Amino acid sequence: MENRLFHMLDPYLIRSDFPIFNREINGKKIIYFDNAATSQKPRQVIDAVSGFYQKYNSNIHRGIHHLSMEASKLYEEAHEIIARFIGAKGAEEIIFVRNTTEAINLVAYIVSDNIISSGDNIITTIMEHHSNLIPWFRISSKKNVDVRILNIDSNGRLMIDELEDIIDDNTRLIAVTHVSNVLGHINDVKKIAKIAHRHGAYVLVDGAQSVPHIPINVKDMDIDFLAFSGHKMLGPTGIGVLYVRQEILDELDPPIIGGGAVKEVHLGERGLNIRLHDLPWRFEAGTPNIAGAIGLAEAAKYLMKIGMNNIMQYEEELTQYLLKRLEETGLLNMLRVLGDTSPRDRLGIFSFTLGRMDPHATALLLSEDGIAVRSGYHCAQPLHEKLGFRSGSVRVSLYLYNTLEEIDHFIESLKRILLEVRNT
Ligand SMILES: Cc1ncc(COP(=O)(O)O)c(C=O)c1O
Repeated sequence: MENRLFHMLDPYLIRSDFPIFNREINGKKIIYFDNAATSQKPRQVIDAVSGFYQKYNSNIHRGIHHLSMEASKLYEEAHEIIARFIGAKGAEEIIFVRNTTEAINLVAYIVSDNIISSGDNIITTIMEHHSNLIPWFRISSKKNVDVRILNIDSNGRLMIDELEDIIDDNTRLIAVTHVSNVLGHINDVKKIAKIAHRHGAYVLVDGAQSVPHIPINVKDMDIDFLAFSGHKMLGPTGIGVLYVRQEILDELDPPIIGGGAVKEVHLGERGLNIRLHDLPWRFEAGTPNIAGAIGLAEAAKYLMKIGMNNIMQYEEELTQYLLKRLEETGLLNMLRVLGDTSPRDRLGIFSFTLGRMDPHATALLLSEDGIAVRSGYHCAQPLHEKLGFRSGSVRVSLYLYNTLEEIDHFIESLKRILLEVRNT
């Protein structure tokens, strides 16, 4: 793909960058529809990670020898690239962590230590991943803090208008997912941020399922925190991002502290005197995942080169095709779908059950045809229970390298499964 300019996205050209698609399982090509769990990695990212170990491996910000200077520069540049990718002010607003879960937990520590006190409340929603639910209830049980839940309507859409009814001037944080990892619905986080800020509350957006797929601009969204994972956006595992608005970071004490986070440490008569490092390094104590950060930056460059608008448009086309094919084959009537099937404000995530079949059984049968989907609760059990799906669901999640042809295979596979079920 290098040196070729994309105006429109060519999934076949893109696929040629992904070595895993050369693999066959049981003589069948892999149809990878489990992108919400993790994405595949292009050669460019794999090469960037292995290239770091082959040419630059050294610790960062700890040595003045040549290798360390080079590694530090690459690591710092990775922050700048990610800042550009999400429209942040600069590297100072980008904290590298392990994943979305760690990023959200870091915000929970920050909120718990610096922002919230007894009698305050936090708002989250029923459509959250467990990672954006459990940390808030933990604060609640420790600190006499109320957690309020914003609900969904019968179509599975977030009832943002009801936010006005549950928010008050003691609300300190609204923690909301940008895109549901089960329903694929996109939430209007800009509108949520407007309401939150009117009441003096901060907004944390879980961008795990949006950042890889649509153009993101944190300044335009006017949010305070954004959490996302590298591994869902073509990057390596073990590297994720927490964006924090600089004015907030300036005021905060880092929850994790130690080597790399400080400039000076003096042992005085009254204990330790420390001078914290500049932003963002004071929030990245300890040796970070340097190779992962470099791989993540390469992934962001890869996505930017294709263009996030092109990616979004292509995925919209894939999703509409999937919904259309399900409709015209009559399959849609046989499925119980979580959320609605409207193409409006949604990404390529589609969850369902097939008749009375256990979701894991459906996933296993799809796997026989080389199709990888996720089955279970997708770490969103309260949402499943709310919608009456007590045994979980099957989830199809698409990305830029998927094709219309693969969707046709999926439709054929579903037909086969239905026929087999009817004949047993
Ligand atoms: C919406 C959402 N939030 C958070 C997470 C957690 O991501 P990670 O496992 O990378 O921490 C996921 C992962 O599936 C997700 O879809």
